[in-house]
Amino acid sequence: MPPASDYRDHGLEFPPEFVIGSATASYQIEGAAREDGRGPSIWDTFSHTPGKVWNGDTGDVADDHYHRWESDLDLMAELGLQSYRFSIAWPRIQPGGKGAINPAGVAFYSRLVDGLLERGIRPIATLYHWDLPQELEDAGGWPARDTAYRFAEYAARTAEALGDRVHTWTTLNEPWCSAYLGYGSGAHAPGRTDGAAALAAVHHLNLAHGLAVQELRREASNDPDVSITLNFHVIRGDDDTSPEAKRRIDALANRAFTHPILRGEYPADLLEDTAGVTDWSFVRAGDLAEINQPIDVLGVNYYSTVTVRMWDGVSPRSTNDGHKDMGGSPWPGSRDVEFLPQAGPYTAMGWNIAPDGLEELLLSLKEQFPQQPLLITENGAAFDDVVTVTDAGKRVHDDERVDYLVRHFAAAHRAMQQGVDLRGYQVWSLLDNFEWGYGYSKRFGIVRVDYDTQERILKDSALWLRELIATRRLPASPLAER
Ligand code: FCB
Repeated sequence: MPPASDYRDHGLEFPPEFVIGSATASYQIEGAAREDGRGPSIWDTFSHTPGKVWNGDTGDVADDHYHRWESDLDLMAELGLQSYRFSIAWPRIQPGGKGAINPAGVAFYSRLVDGLLERGIRPIATLYHWDLPQELEDAGGWPARDTAYRFAEYAARTAEALGDRVHTWTTLNEPWCSAYLGYGSGAHAPGRTDGAAALAAVHHLNLAHGLAVQELRREASNDPDVSITLNFHVIRGDDDTSPEAKRRIDALANRAFTHPILRGEYPADLLEDTAGVTDWSFVRAGDLAEINQPIDVLGVNYYSTVTVRMWDGVSPRSTNDGHKDMGGSPWPGSRDVEFLPQAGPYTAMGWNIAPDGLEELLLSLKEQFPQQPLLITENGAAFDDVVTVTDAGKRVHDDERVDYLVRHFAAAHRAMQQGVDLRGYQVWSLLDNFEWGYGYSKRFGIVRVDYDTQERILKDSALWLRELIATRRLPASPLAER
């Protein structure tokens, strides 16, 4: 990591139109899992299956945001957020994933959107952050083509209801996770371990995105921005075999999504690498044209890098790519790629802190897709926070999280100086929340949540973000001051 003094110069300024806010997702914060007609999702089933989630944690109650939405909105206003990225739970809108909408579910999000607008905060709504209605999984899930059409219908109904007020729509959050962790490694819901199913899921998620973009444009009346959020893999490695390993992981992780979506084609090397797993016959004539819809912004989630080489077939092999990979290998067709330990420092997730990876990623996206505006839809860090009780109340001095954010905002700023058309930055996450397979053991919030009392405590990172938004200048890291 560069010496702290590199980060002291905070002449760095962000223009007013650079939208700074924070992000969450429905299953991670809402709770109220069985209220107001919400149907079960794959994450309800998965988290209630013994052994799948740390400590047996579930999203049944989470941050109880479903009941506390109004005070949570006040908190966002207190921080001066310009935007709030949240996700809509499909099983609240259509409990079984198809047919008539559930008015109570729509009403919840309608109140939320109105509440944001009243407070001058832009709503960025994600249609799918992993809570697939269980009935659709029972009918085949994402490996089944019909799920893409069901998603398009859900997108249309939701846009009809909220499309006069939402500023930016994101179709899918990180389809990489849905496909490869959900159906490949089994680390995420629904927990299947079938490489061919994972690749079929990749295609049907891409198709779902393309169909939903068209529905959003048809049904939303306020000419919204439409986007998708991808978790790009920034891939490193300096072994002789690393270039080949990099190419393979880049194909599966990055180009399997960017190329159909932004170029209307699947990369030839992806099809070749995975030929032993599937013949891709689920790609039908006309699908790529449906997928290849112009999008207003491309959502970028970035946390850390990966380092790879090809496995020599002899030495003990590491398949853990370090990102939520608590199951088997999520890489169909490239199981002979090896993921290597990376230099620290690390967050509490064990993820390496590499802000230069964000700069590199943004520059590489600019080079590959020069006309495509970008938006950071997630970046942030988990650390083991400590609550300090002072006369002035409870505080969390999360200097490491602030330092992480300073370094990554500075990296984004460097990329913008080099011509990247970056429209904004959504910090993950507003609240500590249900971190998927890790349950409540990992805290990403800039606001601490006491899960016993549901008390919210602003961490120093929240105060730091408030200052950044208010002044438009990057405040220095507390660690740089030492
Ligand atoms: C991303 C997810 C988000 C959260 C962060 C830490 O992969 O989109 O829900 O879990 O990681």
